[in-house]
Amino acid sequence: GLAALVQGLGGGGEEEEEAVLTGFATPDVLLHQPLAIYRAHLARTLDGLVGCGLEQAYDAIQPASSAGNGDLDFVLPKLKLADGTKLQDLAADVVKKVCASFPRPHPLFLPPFKDGVHVRFFLSPKSLTRILIPYILDRRGKGGDDSTAAPAPALTTPPPAPPAQKKALVEFSSPNLGQDFRTDHLRSTILGAFVANMYEAMGWHVVRINYLGDWGKQIGLLGLGWIKYGSDDVLAKHADPFRYIHEIAARIDAEFRPRLEATRRQQQQQQQQQQQQQTRRGERDATFKRLEDGEAQAVELWEKMRDISIAYYASTYARLGVAFDDYSGESLVCRNPEALARVEAVLRAEGIAEQRSGGDGDGDGDGDGDGSWVVDFAKHNPAAARLGVAVVRARDGTTTYFLRDVATVLDRLEDYSFDKMVYVVGEQDAHFRQVFETVRLLGQGDVAGRLHHLSFTRGPAQWGGDARLLGDILDRCEEYVRRAAASTWPDDVPAHLRRTAVAGQVAISSLVVHELNIRNRSHTIGLDVELLTATDGETGPALQLAYARLRQTLSQLKAAAAAKDPPTSTSTGAAADYSSLWDAPWIELLRLLARFPNVAVAAFDSLEPETILSYLFLVVDELSYCLDVVDDNGDGDGETEEDAARQSVARAHLYQATRQVLENGMRLLNITPAAR
Ligand code: ARG
Repeated sequence: GLAALVQGLGGGGEEEEEAVLTGFATPDVLLHQPLAIYRAHLARTLDGLVGCGLEQAYDAIQPASSAGNGDLDFVLPKLKLADGTKLQDLAADVVKKVCASFPRPHPLFLPPFKDGVHVRFFLSPKSLTRILIPYILDRRGKGGDDSTAAPAPALTTPPPAPPAQKKALVEFSSPNLGQDFRTDHLRSTILGAFVANMYEAMGWHVVRINYLGDWGKQIGLLGLGWIKYGSDDVLAKHADPFRYIHEIAARIDAEFRPRLEATRRQQQQQQQQQQQQQTRRGERDATFKRLEDGEAQAVELWEKMRDISIAYYASTYARLGVAFDDYSGESLVCRNPEALARVEAVLRAEGIAEQRSGGDGDGDGDGDGDGSWVVDFAKHNPAAARLGVAVVRARDGTTTYFLRDVATVLDRLEDYSFDKMVYVVGEQDAHFRQVFETVRLLGQGDVAGRLHHLSFTRGPAQWGGDARLLGDILDRCEEYVRRAAASTWPDDVPAHLRRTAVAGQVAISSLVVHELNIRNRSHTIGLDVELLTATDGETGPALQLAYARLRQTLSQLKAAAAAKDPPTSTSTGAAADYSSLWDAPWIELLRLLARFPNVAVAAFDSLEPETILSYLFLVVDELSYCLDVVDDNGDGDGETEEDAARQSVARAHLYQATRQVLENGMRLLNITPAAR
């Protein structure tokens, strides 16, 4: 592949280039980042001129941060040069020498220019068209031109089976049984899907885990609710069993919550309420205790609730294009007392956990009374003193959220021997620091180093102010998108995007883009209908619209080519005239496409999907310039039909490459490109 790529340059120097390339960066980098070819070549030239060493030169060459700044940026301060080197002068010198040493025209680069302590290079339009377009098209799936089903390999995908594939566990979404699906669960789902896709695109083996909140005192409450208000008959006939359970949970929960509106006149009533809450608390704890003790009836009830919930979630996540490999929630380690006992034994034996005595005993359930087991971080590591105290077992002997998380780390290590585990969880920063520190105290420092908490601001509890179930959130989105499609969307939106079946896909992309935008703006907003549904600006509909327009243009170009050159003819079709793409806006679009692998790598390093999102909108903008030019000028003014055909083929290739980059970027964000 590499030799063929370099051959595409023409104009000699191929052997030389190949020698540089093979002896330099790893084959992976070369094959999966087209810019690396340019970079490697440039590194050799610059090393020859500055004498800084090949590797240093390579590292000092960065993809340019913004358009207009060239494509590659030789950052002189990144070189470790002798003290007193005047970088400005050196930059001017490098420009002069490069210009003198470059053949004219150079097959890869335009003449560089100096910008302070930077030397900036533009890739030559000729090489961009001749290397990049075939490069991208080569990496397309086998499904042929029009298949959306065939997975187009990302421009960034390393070879199918890298020698030692690393394993990443991505834990995300993780709602609690019987409770609302909150905004932070939604954001975790969207962010987590991206993180998982990203690791996969980078060649990792990924396991998607939903750490259901299916254990703990709130499960006792859920069980209590069922015992008091649930009915198997109603459940059997109910159209929406999950909602039924959720309603029961909400009802018992309401009895439990302190009611703030109580005034003095209602004091008597308030006392009654408090009494009721006290009773309920006892009943809840007793119900949970029965579950922890493995009482058959309690376990059976728990399994019923859990199964209904998982069935609901699996089908509802599917609407979002998300599938989990594993729903092993908090219960997993608790239902396997051995796993817990092992961890606790070490915690105690090593003196990491201690039993509290003589606490304030206020019984507020925080375990600050006699009998609870705690880790007091200050005692083990002065640097971790600000982590305070974590409770391992509450005073009534039940397990805690903290203990379950610690034990789960070790359990997953056994099951999966992961290289990386990412927790995508809104806030809870202190909790995860405590968990990671405890893993370290258990003598598993290297495991602790593989754990990463990807945190974010939670936002309002309920999405859109009142949606309580994931399915309700998705329904609402579809409703908003359909309404906008029927009223505010401009007339030139292709009809298929408005159709019911496709509107679902558009609604999901709208939601994803909306949440990523909200994450960047105001965390206190839950829903901004305009941001969700508009066809301009950085929105889901705008993205799908651009994609639809691109596909429309592609099929028009193809139809026109077929009309001129019917398949019965013996002709092989017009060859592409890439020189017609050497000017703006086409060449600018191609420059952007060249950056995609670097953008993907940056998004992987930071785990920030916004990096990809804003890149995709740059592509969308540049693409619309291209499409508008054609609309304005018509095609092939004053040229022979043959010329016009060759230009159309070149454009079709460019658009096909654009389509692939858009699709790959959208897939990383877990957005399905809307198809007819
Ligand atoms: N179920 C929790 C919640 O709703 C989130 C779980 C986060 N993950 C974890 N390993 N603790 O807040």
